[in-house]
Amino acid sequence: MDQSSIAWADGALVTIDQRALPHELRELRITTVDEVIEAIKTLAVRGAPAIGVCGAFGVVVAARAATIDGVVDTARVEAEAARIADARPTAVNLAWGVRRTLARLPEGVAAMEAEALELLAEDGRVNLAAATEAADLIQRLCGDRPLRLLTHCNTGRLATTAWGTAVGALRVLHGRGALAEVIVDETRPLLQGARLTAWEMAEAGIPHRLTIDSAAAWAMATEQVDAVVVGADRITADGAVANKIGTYMLAIAARHHGIPFIVVAPESTRDISTARGSDIVVEQRAAAEVTGFGGVATAPEGTATFNPAFDVTPGELVTAVVTEYGVLEDPSIARGGAAHPEPAAV
Ligand code: MRU
Repeated sequence: MDQSSIAWADGALVTIDQRALPHELRELRITTVDEVIEAIKTLAVRGAPAIGVCGAFGVVVAARAATIDGVVDTARVEAEAARIADARPTAVNLAWGVRRTLARLPEGVAAMEAEALELLAEDGRVNLAAATEAADLIQRLCGDRPLRLLTHCNTGRLATTAWGTAVGALRVLHGRGALAEVIVDETRPLLQGARLTAWEMAEAGIPHRLTIDSAAAWAMATEQVDAVVVGADRITADGAVANKIGTYMLAIAARHHGIPFIVVAPESTRDISTARGSDIVVEQRAAAEVTGFGGVATAPEGTATFNPAFDVTPGELVTAVVTEYGVLEDPSIARGGAAHPEPAAV
């Protein structure tokens, strides 16, 4: 099994502070609800499955803090759970993780903790299953020769608890000797590709080249890409895929060049309660992420910005969505009870 990036130890959520990479592998111990929210908002913990697990344990942290003389203040826990679920709006896994733990509140804190631990254990299993299905599909579509695959953002063990989704598929293909190299988009503005995916590729010994986001279409045009493989933050009933900003233009470029565009995600990222991609709330982030680089201003002071954290790719541009159940046939139907037939709010 791949190394896990999240653990639960004596009431603390122990993880990697993703803000410090690639310079420092820094441990982050989270013990309060405010720290959970701060970690999610500042992207110390990021990636849809990782924030789902973090949210699930966040509710346990809230329940422990709201227990006095063995009695849990349920109203307080519910209010704290809503605050955690609101920390970021786009990835459906966050509200899903929060809701799963909160559903055990009537059974007490031990049951809530057991639920969060189950979610943590499940995530690695689910990612490996989805990644293996995706690797099989990519080989069916592209052939058995060593492949060159392009990925965007970070969907690896950092973005999940183990293996990763799209990066998980890259790991499986590398293990099969079926990967020539990975082209890693740097992923402006917060550089999840450069800082995190390149770090994970090096850690796993996977050959890779880092490129600027705007070189992706040219890489496809010059025949350096067999397929694009990405993750997702929310997949709606019409098959639209919300993912890191820049994903949509990759899908358009892939379609133009006749290259498969594959989305790898757990069933928990599917949200059939949201009918259309256009209904997804896309998080807007601070102007400073765009007007500066590494703490140095790169735009005139006061420049207005457009800084969406995600975009939404229409289903017709997606060759396949692959989950732990295999290739998704009908995006409007949930599988395994893990999706979201009820409204996504907590
Ligand atoms: O803003 P981020 O870094 O949390 O965005 C993450 C992504 O867009 C990932 O591609 C997605 O969450 C899938 S992670 C397996």
